[in-house]
Amino acid sequence: MAETPSVTVIEHPLVRHKLTIMRDKNTSTAGFRRLLREIAMLLCYEATRDLELEMVDIDTPLMPMQAPQLAGKKLVFAPILRAGEGLLDGMLDLVPSARVAHVGLYRDPETLSAVEYYFKAPDDMGERRVIVLDPMLATANSAIAAVDRLKEAGATDMRFVCLLAAPEGVSNFTGHHPDVPIVTAAIDEKLDDHGYIVPGLGDAGDRMFGTK
Ligand code: PRP
Ligand code: URA
Repeated sequence: MAETPSVTVIEHPLVRHKLTIMRDKNTSTAGFRRLLREIAMLLCYEATRDLELEMVDIDTPLMPMQAPQLAGKKLVFAPILRAGEGLLDGMLDLVPSARVAHVGLYRDPETLSAVEYYFKAPDDMGERRVIVLDPMLATANSAIAAVDRLKEAGATDMRFVCLLAAPEGVSNFTGHHPDVPIVTAAIDEKLDDHGYIVPGLGDAGDRMFGTK
């Protein structure tokens, strides 16, 4: 049976407010970076909503009780370099024990296809939930290539978390990877002639690292 792709847009007021400041071209590099880290925590909250729990016995200062703790699959965060790094720290603030897989890709400005330059992942990818991180889902060529590569490395249980998506990217990604749910803070209007999301926030990597 074909899978129904799942796309969740987080409409929490804190996320929407912080995203507005990030979109503003007058926001500083330091402010952009800080807000991305903060929004990452809120996105992580949604992307981990269905993690399994198990009951364990503990003693409070007053009495014994059974209480829930995380069970089952451990997490891997997989940032797509460079800009995905901006989401990583906020995620690790919430799940400090997660492993990290780095996927180095850049988008060729002429062809808009993804070019891989680095890949390093833990060995046991098949036993973990993998949360792929990139602030921008534009054409989705980078996200599709990253998920292809992570599947090749053994990952079977994945989520894709971004800040902004274009409708074209959502449909391209879900067409290639219907088994990978998307969590995003917003879906914008469209892509422009250069493959940029509009209205968007510009080039996420450049804004985060101050390279333009
Ligand atoms: C940006 C962004 C995504 C990609 C999105 O990265 O961080 O990885 O573009 O575009 P796509 O959906 O059309 O593939 P970029 O290639 O600019 O590299 P950078 O993160 O190193 O700046
Ligand atoms: N990459 C970005 O950083 N921004 C876009 O709008 C598209 C791709």
